[in-house]
Amino acid sequence: MIFDTHAHYDDEAFEQDRKELLSGLQDAGIEAVVNISANIQGVKHTLELINQYPFIYGAVGVHPSETGELNHTLLNWLEEMARKPKVVAIGEIGLDYHWEEPEKEVQKHWFIRQLDLARRVKLPVVIHSRDAAKDTLDIMKEGKAEETGGVIHCFSYGTDMAREYLNMGFYLGIGGVVTFANAKKLKEVVKYMPMDRLVLETDCPYLSPVPNRGKRNSSLNLPYVVEAVSQLKGILPQEVISVTNENAKKLYRISAVSS
Ligand code: NI
Repeated sequence: MIFDTHAHYDDEAFEQDRKELLSGLQDAGIEAVVNISANIQGVKHTLELINQYPFIYGAVGVHPSETGELNHTLLNWLEEMARKPKVVAIGEIGLDYHWEEPEKEVQKHWFIRQLDLARRVKLPVVIHSRDAAKDTLDIMKEGKAEETGGVIHCFSYGTDMAREYLNMGFYLGIGGVVTFANAKKLKEVVKYMPMDRLVLETDCPYLSPVPNRGKRNSSLNLPYVVEAVSQLKGILPQEVISVTNENAKKLYRISAVSS
């Protein structure tokens, strides 16, 4: 069954039909989902979701674009939440220079501190890095991110950068973008990388794969991503599903999923 390593089911895009959608996922072939927080409110929602649904796990952390809201009290609170059952990672954290706010120094400050937090609680990290390849890598090397391990979500750089992260022991998250006709660079990365470091993700409600590009995304669209990876790798879709499922469980250190 399919493992969705990165979803935002706390997003308001799911306000109308969240319960209906989530209760149907396992019957549709989705074994497990990790709901990723992007801000403090998202952490609270994520904790509610993981308490409600046995097959949903959570990552707690603050997205680089939201780090303006962070302070030391909230960082301590995050650490407390990170120790709750079924919290399997710290994320998403990182750097996003696509947007000018908050300024780079603020983003770096909280990226470093959330990496430290991950080391203290011994959890892997979910990294968001956009237009910030070098700074992300430098901070991760300095922060000994290879000790926590984790995933570079929605990987968007080329094969050289992929090699750097793979050498640090990281997984690369592959989602809807791989189905886009113009995603030449990402298709090359998928061809280049070893299958045992690839994990599937939706980043829903964003980044729906073709043929649903532009619409609200959900884990139900992952078979399109599986198909694209299977063609690029020249292996059967079923093999993509089973290998990435195993990878996801290793990444998040989940031994068995309850339904
Ligand atoms: Ni995300």
